[in-house]
Amino acid sequence: MNWTAEKTTVNSWNEWDPLKHVIVGLATDCHIPPAEPALDAKVPEDSDMRGQWGKRPQEMIDRGNELLDNFALQLQKRGIRVDRPTPTDFSLPATTPDFHTDSQFGCMPPRDVLLTVGSEILEATMSYRCRWFEYLCYRPLMQQYFNEDPNFRHEAAPKPRLTDADYRADYLSEKIGIEKRLEWTADKFFVTTEEEPLFDAADVLRMGKDLVVQHGFTTNLKGIEWLRRHFPDHRVHAVNFPGDPYPIHIDATFTPVRPGLILNNPNRRLPDDQREFFHRNGWEIVDAAQPAHNSPPPLCYSSTWLSMNVLVLDPKTVCVEKSEVYQAEQFDKLGIEVVEVELRDAYAFGGGLHCCTADVYRESSFEDYFPKG
Ligand code: ARG
Repeated sequence: MNWTAEKTTVNSWNEWDPLKHVIVGLATDCHIPPAEPALDAKVPEDSDMRGQWGKRPQEMIDRGNELLDNFALQLQKRGIRVDRPTPTDFSLPATTPDFHTDSQFGCMPPRDVLLTVGSEILEATMSYRCRWFEYLCYRPLMQQYFNEDPNFRHEAAPKPRLTDADYRADYLSEKIGIEKRLEWTADKFFVTTEEEPLFDAADVLRMGKDLVVQHGFTTNLKGIEWLRRHFPDHRVHAVNFPGDPYPIHIDATFTPVRPGLILNNPNRRLPDDQREFFHRNGWEIVDAAQPAHNSPPPLCYSSTWLSMNVLVLDPKTVCVEKSEVYQAEQFDKLGIEVVEVELRDAYAFGGGLHCCTADVYRESSFEDYFPKG
């Protein structure tokens, strides 16, 4: 097989096999969306973003794009094909018969929207109203892949209605307090209800036959059940991480690096009963290194733990954000080569190196890494 063929082949079964083709997001026209129930629950109580919305400052967008373009170039120089989304006008409202919100979001973290499993790319339901139409930014690429790869399966999960019934009113208050939030999330009392299946693609980790899915603000149990029925040849595991007051997207919490090794955020440990599955199969779960920063950059949704939001290029090579020296040192000690990538000034657009990408092709096949089920 010719792994470097320019014509598209969609194929990726896990987070670590050699990466050959990837989508990198864009900061273009990115907006801070107006308040809506699920988004509000996620914005930290002391965040500088509370109470403001509209297009992000153009200088920040330009700087974000500069870094994302450089990252794309770095990947291309290593022989990896990079595609980019086509932004739509995010100043437009998102309106359906069920809801209205005054602006959209952007097309930065493609990881949140697109889930690649084998030869399939699945558009997630999403759980924020402002991100309901975001799949449109990837449709030109999906059309191209569909034309070029006769085996590509383009799928979309049922679009959710996102009425108020999808969200717990308990989360509407701005002053819940961190203690209460930690209690609620440890009890799996999240902002999303079980009205209908909801999931964001970035809550899913692909580990061959096993899909590990975070139950939290953006993905509910019905969403996980939908994934189980949709991927009947996989084992689908629901996991949750007490210690995270704003649990969305698994990739700053639980990071598989190569078969047998996972980094876990030490403030958000996987509960013992959920660890057992990994341990009985000989996998090691180690604490991730501390972030290098005490606070996230301005106007950022994410925590400082984007330090562990790394992009694995192959089981021996990992892209790490340039300023995250402790994370780089940890990989060094594990015998993994670190590729430094400057991205911190693009964090505000929705995430780090894993978030800002979506797999199209890894040299990988469908394998069972957990033979003891
Ligand atoms: N919830 C994570 C944190 O702040 C950020 C995850 C971002 N991931 C993503 N795919 N957008 O720690």
